[in-house]
Amino acid sequence: MTQNTLRFPVPGGIHVGIIMDGNGRWAHERQRPRSVGHRRGARAVRQVVEAAPDFGIGTLTLFAFSSDNWRRPGPEVRTLFRLFRTYLRAETEKCVREGVRLRVIGRRDRLPDDLLGAIDEAEAATHAGRKLFLRVALDYSARASILEAASRSNGALRDEDDFAAILGDVIHDAGPAPDLDLLIRTGGEQRLSDFLLWEAAYAELYFSPRHWPDFGPDGLGEAVEEFHRRERRFGRVTAEGNPAAEAIRREAAG
Ligand code: FPP
Repeated sequence: MTQNTLRFPVPGGIHVGIIMDGNGRWAHERQRPRSVGHRRGARAVRQVVEAAPDFGIGTLTLFAFSSDNWRRPGPEVRTLFRLFRTYLRAETEKCVREGVRLRVIGRRDRLPDDLLGAIDEAEAATHAGRKLFLRVALDYSARASILEAASRSNGALRDEDDFAAILGDVIHDAGPAPDLDLLIRTGGEQRLSDFLLWEAAYAELYFSPRHWPDFGPDGLGEAVEEFHRRERRFGRVTAEGNPAAEAIRREAAG
């Protein structure tokens, strides 16, 4: 599938989450330091964000740094934080121009001040973006956030939406996120690694053998195409009553 040839008329667009894995192996295969893999990974982020709206994606959540990633060597953690700060500073203007609203989700109390400053500026500047909601997960753990939301909820929950609202507050989101439609992991591993466990209850899973720096818009297009071939039943016997599937069928029928 090439860009711009398929329209996916799901109202508001689908929510895609990506576990961007394989930067280190990409670099290793080329006898380069891991930092080179991460830099190429940042380039891939730019390309994928740019392409996302053309694939009918309304919300894109990228797993950039898990709470478990603090276990990596200090120099690698610092390299990653420098890359995130540079990305935020360099991309903010473009995000405003392109209608991308950016939000960083996860813990904020352990991030360095200069990165926090860049996050605040990027979020404030892109606040009005409506074309794509880009969420970057930093110091994020789904389990820890669910645990924190459960302890804050104090037993006073009417339904799942109530819980999702508290979860949104815990991870500093702009509001409760839509459920995840498609969860992609690159780099050949097939696991969730503590990413969006609540939001992924009904997500379609897609695992790509490509390392993240090689995934790019082509990889994203293939994943979204595969997603639209799946029948999502949400517990039903058929896909009838599934608004996304119905919208696609209507569009196909002209
Ligand atoms: C996983 O590859 C990747 C990460 C832990 C970091 C993700 C960061 C980026 C893609 C770079 C920039 C991101 C933004 C948002 C600007 P790995 O290091 O675990 O690779 P490996 O499994 O091959 O060692």
